[in-house]
Amino acid sequence: MDDVSRQYISDSIRTVPDFPKKGIMFHDVTTLLLDPKAFQLSVDDFAARYKDKKIDIVAGFEARGFIFGAPLALQLKCAFVPLRKPGKLPGETIGASYKLEYGEDRIEMHAGAITEGQRVLLLDDLIATGGTLAAGIKLMKQVKAEIVECACVIELPDLKGAKKLDGLPLYVQVQKE
Ligand code: PRP
Repeated sequence: MDDVSRQYISDSIRTVPDFPKKGIMFHDVTTLLLDPKAFQLSVDDFAARYKDKKIDIVAGFEARGFIFGAPLALQLKCAFVPLRKPGKLPGETIGASYKLEYGEDRIEMHAGAITEGQRVLLLDDLIATGGTLAAGIKLMKQVKAEIVECACVIELPDLKGAKKLDGLPLYVQVQKE
């Protein structure tokens, strides 16, 4: 992606101070979604990067990973698998837990949705601490899937989340503070 497109995407993302709590700068992709040019640039950039990578499955994280992951899967003509917070999926599930500042969280997918050897792209809107993507990696390893790459629209590099990804590559479109 050229610098002009990258800047266009970055400028379309609103920053909301003190959300969800004081001291946190929230990077809000709903403003990107209001601008079809920005949304298209983002999805097209992912599609161009992965079109020849033989991706079987785009696995998107609840909730905003779904928004970018679903149109990308259609462009790549591959499957989309939602990675969900606990208790949301109706069928038999498998999951992986991850640590939060206080306590633990967990992501789940339907058992059998991703199987051994399938080539998976893990996709989310944002990487902060990297806990969410690390849980996704754990889950893919449980089912012996092959992770092609982790990808996000936004990275907060100060939080060093990329270091939690077990040495797997991370592609991001824009970086924010
Ligand atoms: C946000 C974001 C990522 C995750 C990144 O989701 O959309 O999924 O946090 O943080 P991490 O790298 O520190 O794990 P959130 O937990 O707010 O869930 P939501 O999308 O369902 O609101």
